[in-house]
Formats: sequence, structure tokens, C-alpha cells
Amino acid sequence: MRPIRTQVGIIGAGPAGLTLAHWLRRRGIDSVIIEHRSRAYVEARVRAGLLEQNTVDILSDLGLADRVQREGHAHHGVYLSFDGERIRLPFDDYTGGRHITIYGQQEVVKDLTDAWLAGGGTLLFEAPALRIEAIDTSNPTIYFEHAGETGVIHCDFVAACDGFHGLGRRTLPKGSYREYSNTYPFSWLGILAQVAPSSEELIYAYHERGFALHSLRSSTVSRLYIQVENDDRIENWPDDRIWEELSVRLGTPGWELQSGPIIEKSITPMRSYLIDTLQAGRLFLAGDAAHIVPPTGGKGLNLAVADVKHLVDGLTDYYHHGSTKALDRYTETALRRIWRAQDFSNFMTTLFHKQAEHGSFTYRLQRAKFDYIRQSEAYAATIAENYVGLPFGAFASTRLPTL
Ligand code: APR
Ligand code: PHB
Repeated sequence: MRPIRTQVGIIGAGPAGLTLAHWLRRRGIDSVIIEHRSRAYVEARVRAGLLEQNTVDILSDLGLADRVQREGHAHHGVYLSFDGERIRLPFDDYTGGRHITIYGQQEVVKDLTDAWLAGGGTLLFEAPALRIEAIDTSNPTIYFEHAGETGVIHCDFVAACDGFHGLGRRTLPKGSYREYSNTYPFSWLGILAQVAPSSEELIYAYHERGFALHSLRSSTVSRLYIQVENDDRIENWPDDRIWEELSVRLGTPGWELQSGPIIEKSITPMRSYLIDTLQAGRLFLAGDAAHIVPPTGGKGLNLAVADVKHLVDGLTDYYHHGSTKALDRYTETALRRIWRAQDFSNFMTTLFHKQAEHGSFTYRLQRAKFDYIRQSEAYAATIAENYVGLPFGAFASTRLPTL
């Protein structure tokens, strides 16, 4: 195989890698993507489906949001439920009209892949990166495998957008970063079902039997989740039991959950994880490669796209103005939003999951938070602005200066 020469070598064709490639192309910067898995595998991977306003705006600016606009569902509020009491948190009043869009992550991946290939972009599937070398020089190299051969990418920069189990993080020099991690003592059992959503907006519910979430994908497909034990197995959950549990946990007087055929079900552990250094020499990490948030609040994809924004800003500054100033600040800039998202995802997770006995101190604190959302405009606004995603400008300044 002939060596490939490009400006930015991108590892991973998930939301981070694909968005990066498109955005760099817009800025006149050349890139090549290699992806470990097959196209069919990547496009079939069912994941969350909540797009922040920022993410939809970015996709629109890049000319990639035609189908999101057509098939996505704009939501201007969310239902929150506690012990069967349901309230609606309206976004518009608190966020100046900013809202979220429900659209499956794998649909985003399909749209971005189609557009990248249609535009003549290089993307090799079934091409795992094996080694990243010479990151301390101006000509780093990615070695990969493809169709039984070893390939080489010579580039100016390596963008490791290769997810939590990727090669990028493992390539950072030992001791060059600090790791933060929290594994929750529960998991999510998620289903996709062929049934019209029973609610036009999402419902996050605390119940003494555990958390439940009602989401959707279309007018005929619903996406729902329940909290289960970490060592639980999918075999313990026949379809009837799942529907029964969802119905109890999401239940509120005068509302009924419609059930239907389940077309996909799986159990996912819940974890918070991040590293505090996203760069080593010419190697930059973005997305799940550098951080994981528990899915409560749907921040994962949006955080990946936000990292990419900062990386694009840095690379543009380098290629257009010869300056590494913005690139050198990439870790610092990206970490501000990463920590914010970590905090919000942890907040949503601990507020709505059953963590301790009903009636315990922990439960009472959860209840106090829920009551406070109903009382306080300021608290409701805090949750709404985090949920729809803070604008990029929000991280540029500090409102209360150090005295
Ligand atoms: N070589 C090439 N590709 C690789 C390698 C490797 N050595 N290791 C991993 N990959 C690929 C994976 O197969 C995957 O397709 O990198 C891609 C990473 O994509 P994602 O896991 O989707 O990560 P990211 O693009 O950061 O998107 C973050 O994805 O995990 C969800 O919920 C998370 O929504 C968030 C989003
Ligand atoms: C989803 O639709 O899959 C979804 C929505 C919101 C979340 C998590 C997942 O917080």
C-alpha cells in the first residue's frame, strides 16, 4: 500500500472524527480518516440521540443538517417525574429559545459518512490504527492495517477520535495526564420499540424501583431505558417484564404507557471518566477518547462535537496564521466544558437514580432538589441551560471575578 500524506490524520469515524474532517475541509485543511470497524457496524451502533442546539447549529453551518431538520424532533421542554409527580421544565423561558433535537446518533454518523464520501473524502473502513509514532516531531506517523497490508499515514497532526477503547489515549506518555473516574452502582437497560411514543417530550423519572427514561426516535419508534443492577443480565428481562417496569416507574395519574414489539435491547454500564491532558506534541484527543459521561442528560455526542470545535479553531489558527497559540490552549479550553458536562451528567444521574433506601438521607436530598426545581426560577434555569447546552461564549469569561 502506498504511504498516504495528509495534513491531519484522523483515527475513528464516530461523531468526533467525522465532524472534524468535514469542518477542516470547510477551512481548506486536508484530512484522511481510518476506522477500525466496517461501515455497516458503525452505522448500526445504537446510541443516544439527543442533539444540543450547538450541535445542530454546527451541523447546519457545515451543510450537514438537511435530514436532521427534516426527520429530527425539536423539543422545547422536558418532563421530570419524582415518585409519580410529573412536572414540565420549559426550555424557552430560560434559554432564550434554545432547545434540543432528538435524532439518533447513528443517523448523524450515516449522514456525515455519506456526505464525506460523496465529497471525495478518504475514509478507510476496517482499517485499525496500530501505532502512532513521532508525535514530538512535525511529521507524526500513523501505522494501520487494511486488507491484510500495513499502511502508513504521514501527517502534520494526529487527531485521535477513536473512542474510549482507542489507541490515542494509550499513546499519551505515561504520567503526562491525570485520570478521574467514577463507576456508578447501576446500569441502563435500553430498548428500541416499534410503538408510537407515549409522550411527545422526554420523561426522566425517579421511582422507588429505580430510574426510567422515555425517549423516542420517530412517530413510530420509541426509545426507553430503566435502571438495573450492574450484574443484571438481559435474559432476566423478558419483554413483558420491561414494559411492566417502565409503566410503573414512568406512571402518573391519567397517563398510560403504550407497549409494542421490542426490536433491540441491551445493558450499558454507567461511568464518568476523563483525563486532564488532551494533547501530547502533535497528538490531540477528542470525544470519548478523552472522556465518558453517564448518559443521563445525553451529553456524550455533544461534548465530542464541542471538543472538535476547539480543535478546529486551533488547527485553523495554525494553518491560516502560522500560530500555535490556540492549539496550545486546546486542553484548557475543552476542559472547561468537559467538567461542566461531567457535573451536569452526574447531577442528573444522582438526582433520578435510586441510590439508597426510599426515605433515607440520600433520598431526602433527591426529593429536596426536585421540590426546589418547582420553586425556584434560578434552579430551573440552571437545569434548562445545561440541558440544552451552554453557548460557546459562556465559557469565555467569568462573571464574578476573583477579588
Ligand atoms: N483505529 C481506528 N479506529 C478506531 C480505533 C483504532 N485503533 N479504535 C477505535 N476506533 C473507532 C471505533 O470503532 C469508533 O467507530 O473510533 C470510533 C470512535 O467513535 P465513538 O466511540 O462514537 O466516539 P466519538 O466519535 O468520540 O463519539 C462520542 O459516541 O460513545 C458515544 O455516547 C458517546 O455520544 C458519544 C459519542
Ligand atoms: C436517547 O434518546 O437515547 C436518550 C435521550 C436522553 C438521554 C439519554 C438517551 O438523556
